[in-house]
Amino acid sequence: MSIPKNHYFNPRPAVASRPHTVRLRSGEVDLHLMVDRGVFGARGIDLGTLTLLKEAPAPPASGEVLDLGAGYGPIAIVLAKASPHARVWAVDVNERAVELSRANAVSAATPNLVACVPEEVPAELRFDAIYSNPPVRVGKQAMRQLLLQWLGRLTPDGQAHLVVQRNLGADSLVKWLREEGWNVGRIKAKKGYRVITVVARPA
Ligand SMILES: C[S@@+](CC[C@H](N)C(=O)[O-])C[C@H]1O[C@@H](n2cnc3c(N)ncnc32)[C@H](O)[C@@H]1O
Repeated sequence: MSIPKNHYFNPRPAVASRPHTVRLRSGEVDLHLMVDRGVFGARGIDLGTLTLLKEAPAPPASGEVLDLGAGYGPIAIVLAKASPHARVWAVDVNERAVELSRANAVSAATPNLVACVPEEVPAELRFDAIYSNPPVRVGKQAMRQLLLQWLGRLTPDGQAHLVVQRNLGADSLVKWLREEGWNVGRIKAKKGYRVITVVARPA
């Protein structure tokens, strides 16, 4: 698929950089994060992101945790704060977003956060938990492919928590996950969003 030049999932956004900050408030966390043009959520923390942070279960206390499509890092930073002994991977294709995540991790004092592009995640690494506000705008097939690729890297007891807007296909995503053999656990409906838990091992 050819990627539109100015889309938020372009590896190197063509639009000129103009950084600014947005406020992230979630539970105990109250921080200003650096954002930029050409990156998802540059106008403020996305409502889906806030919904995931509020409704998804807390991350495991230790182990490997993935924020798939981390953008400038709001989800990954809250996870890293909540579980300082876990390692949180903030993974994104957009290099500008990865740099912002890295800078935001420093200012948020979360040394347990590793921000990188997908190719930099060691191939043998498995995740105890995955959190994602996935990139619906890449198209249905591309997003499903991406989810399959990373869900397959959950540990046997691992869980993934995905937030998807109901009118952007949350219910058909659940149906498809089940058809693909994934055990979909809790589905929390909130403000037009679904927070979907996928369990690696069937109960
Ligand atoms: C809906 S945004 C969420 C961003 C961030 N987690 C937040 O909550 O603000 C989805 C992110 O997925 C990223 N993305 C798109 N395709 C990807 C891929 N193949 N691998 C990793 N990240 C990808 C986009 O660049 C974008 O930052």
